[in-house]
Amino acid sequence: MRLVDQRALPRRLRFVECGTVSELCDAIRSLVVRGAPALGVTGAFGVALAVRTERGVAAVRRAAARLREARPTAVNLAWGVDRALAAWEAGGSEAALVEAERIAAADVAANRALGAFGAELVPAGARVLTHCNAGALAAAGYGTALGVVRAAFEAGKAPTVWVDETRPVLQGARLTAWELDRLGIEATVIPDALAGSLMAAGRVDVVVVGADRIAANGDVANKVGTYPLAVLAREHDVPFYVAAPTSTIDLATPDAGAVVVEERPPEEVLRVGRERIAPAGARALNLAFDLTPGRLVTAVVTEQGVARRPYGRSLAALVRQAGA
Ligand code: MRU
Repeated sequence: MRLVDQRALPRRLRFVECGTVSELCDAIRSLVVRGAPALGVTGAFGVALAVRTERGVAAVRRAAARLREARPTAVNLAWGVDRALAAWEAGGSEAALVEAERIAAADVAANRALGAFGAELVPAGARVLTHCNAGALAAAGYGTALGVVRAAFEAGKAPTVWVDETRPVLQGARLTAWELDRLGIEATVIPDALAGSLMAAGRVDVVVVGADRIAANGDVANKVGTYPLAVLAREHDVPFYVAAPTSTIDLATPDAGAVVVEERPPEEVLRVGRERIAPAGARALNLAFDLTPGRLVTAVVTEQGVARRPYGRSLAALVRQAGA
């Protein structure tokens, strides 16, 4: 498998090759590839890789289990692995690859469809605030939250974007800013902590973020820093939209309390890039995601349409529709 190395962007567009499932798990853990839908596609292709490199049914199943567990919060990873594994178990050797290719193509189509639904919610000339990276890099192509921005841009609405830098790994400053620049969409990187003042000054019209897992009741797990944005948006009457394919909705997770929040190495907080900024001996807590209650979410935008409260009903209906 050949993966864009997201760690090297925007300085360099380089690729990482993974010849085994162990190498692929390392690449997933170290954020070579990241973003929930991209992890789903990667997990599915990972099963196809396991089918080629592992010997015997039990070994393929074990490799699939390792892939599934490489990162815990984004439900798409387990979803993609399970889909490809089921296809292989039912259809034999090439079936995992065929399923992975199908998932990748469906993800791009889903992004475009949710982008179109989301664009209708974005007023002309809107100043959109987004967090982390939920663009083409985080998916199979096009993007989720950035898919909404892109679709609004393509519809002639001329959105501009406030890009949260997104500490600690700076996916916003590095990846979202890079993608928006390539798309020709006007963007301004801000420190995460500036969002509240911009909202208070009336300089944010809408917040659009992605999701790593959406629970059955509408609670949302997303990159840490999302929850404070939702609280701020409520305080300042700014619509707060979550854009994600239905593959990110996990009806088996009843609410935020059941989500496993990944804790990542403290070094990611104690350093900026390669440079250590904290004194020797300093400790850090690096919980990589936070949990936003569904009551703070104005709407969830999916490829099947837009869900609103009460989410228990509306999300289940969209998932049913997707499976129909
Ligand atoms: O840790 P990451 O970079 O894999 O997390 C990804 C995110 O949390 C993004 O915010 C995104 O919204 C979800 S994927 C489109």
